[in-house]
Amino acid sequence: MILNNNLNKILIIDFGSQFTQLIARRIRELGIFSEIVSHKKTNNIKLFKKEIKGIIISGGPLNVYESNKFKFDKEILKLNIPILGICFGHQIISKVLGGKVKKSKYREFGLATVKKKQKSELTENFFYKKQINNVWMSHADQVSKLPKGFTVVASTKNSKYTIIENKKKKFYGVQFHPEVTHTERGKILLKNFVLNICKAKKNWSLKHQKIKLISDIRKQVGKEKVICALSGGVDSTVVAQLLSKAIGKKLICIFVNTGLLRKNEEKQVINTFKKKLKINLIYINAKNEFIRKLHNVTDPEKKRKIIGNLFIKIFEKYANKVKKVKFLAQGTLYPDLIESKSVTGSQTSKIKSHHNVGGLPKKMKLKLVEPLKYLFKDEVRKLGLKLNLSKEIIFRHPFPGPGLAIRMPGPITNHKIKILQEADYYFINELKKNDLYNKIWQAYAALLPVKTVGVMGDNRTYEYICLLRAITSEDGMTADFFNFKKDFIQHISNKIINNIRGINRVVYDITSKPPSTIELE
Ligand code: XMP
Repeated sequence: MILNNNLNKILIIDFGSQFTQLIARRIRELGIFSEIVSHKKTNNIKLFKKEIKGIIISGGPLNVYESNKFKFDKEILKLNIPILGICFGHQIISKVLGGKVKKSKYREFGLATVKKKQKSELTENFFYKKQINNVWMSHADQVSKLPKGFTVVASTKNSKYTIIENKKKKFYGVQFHPEVTHTERGKILLKNFVLNICKAKKNWSLKHQKIKLISDIRKQVGKEKVICALSGGVDSTVVAQLLSKAIGKKLICIFVNTGLLRKNEEKQVINTFKKKLKINLIYINAKNEFIRKLHNVTDPEKKRKIIGNLFIKIFEKYANKVKKVKFLAQGTLYPDLIESKSVTGSQTSKIKSHHNVGGLPKKMKLKLVEPLKYLFKDEVRKLGLKLNLSKEIIFRHPFPGPGLAIRMPGPITNHKIKILQEADYYFINELKKNDLYNKIWQAYAALLPVKTVGVMGDNRTYEYICLLRAITSEDGMTADFFNFKKDFIQHISNKIINNIRGINRVVYDITSKPPSTIELE
């Protein structure tokens, strides 16, 4: 159901693409409010006609002929509102309006070159002369016959109808993804659609976002108390600040020591919250419980589920016995959601259960408050600056809720945790000392569950392998490994091996995301 009464919005109809939130984000970056609605829930669209300046139909994992699996409300096409279809959206509007879609002879995944065929308002300043070399494709089907009233704006070698338009109706379709960073000048295309074709007025900023998030929290929780699950990272700290502004003393922050934290982390978090932010913090030491429950568990999904369940059990116990609290707030972000489950009820593929989403028990007594669930990390950081949080908190590398448990494939033991905490400590400290920490999006050490042979001081060793990972990324959705200089990587390898008993080999992970994820498990 379309809900938000903003008089100047772009409506994004979601067919389950992993990139739908990226579209929303790009629209936010243009200073325009946008709202995402599942394809299953557009039935009241007519009522909101006046508020909608433009409609974007997302991509998705489905095939346009699997019409029993999705709902396309033809009313959308009769509203006299500009429409942009992206990938699946491009194919579905083509099909519904009388064109044809078929399996491509050559599937296109990755970068493609698009050649201009005619001028269009949509592609103003998009092409370099007659073509653009880097647009990002991800499709197996393609439009094979244009619907009536449409013309070709641009083609690739393998798909003739890559950009199409019906100028009169202001309907546009693009086969590639202008919303992803890999598509060169993708933002220009979206800007042309939103500002020039839809004529949306700029009405959205970080300040608006902050105000809206605070007012949404008030609307959701009313006069009830809220427990905020704090990890000390930027996401949960921003959530705590938003809640503190929204409900003041009704906020109770809880920090759980899982025993899977980085070295000295609990001391740092307590110090930051109690002393610097003056936020009321309850510290629960549940180290033994977590380690006991994780004994001999090796399956990554099981680890995540156990940790998620235990977190909730601890919060529920506190909420029941001590304060009768109904809500639990946490710093879930969009990339956590998109990898764990679908956000709008549309079809997306599950990658892993992030502990604060897919790792939660099916039945929960506490209702969730997740104000950041549609935002990306860098947007949360900007919001944090707007909330006057210190740069030290804002630019901390992300640290996952399940902590070191998912950086230690295989069984978890206290001995391994100790080794890993030390390795991580040396790595991160050296990054800071060498002015590299802020150039890297996320870095950590992991402990591989294999032992190999080494030689130290003429003696044979048989110890674990420490894997170092350091990546650059914009939003955690895609990532590349950081290119260290040989001297540094050699120095850190020596430092770890010389100082930590239990490791005799250091390797550096050089995979990007995709195909790998950022965490090992
Ligand atoms: P992946 O490994 O999925 O990670 O590429 C993307 C980003 O999310 C973080 N991450 C998590 N954060 N709970 C969290 O709060 C989790 O269960 C979780 N799993 C991954 C990861 O550190 C990276 O920044």
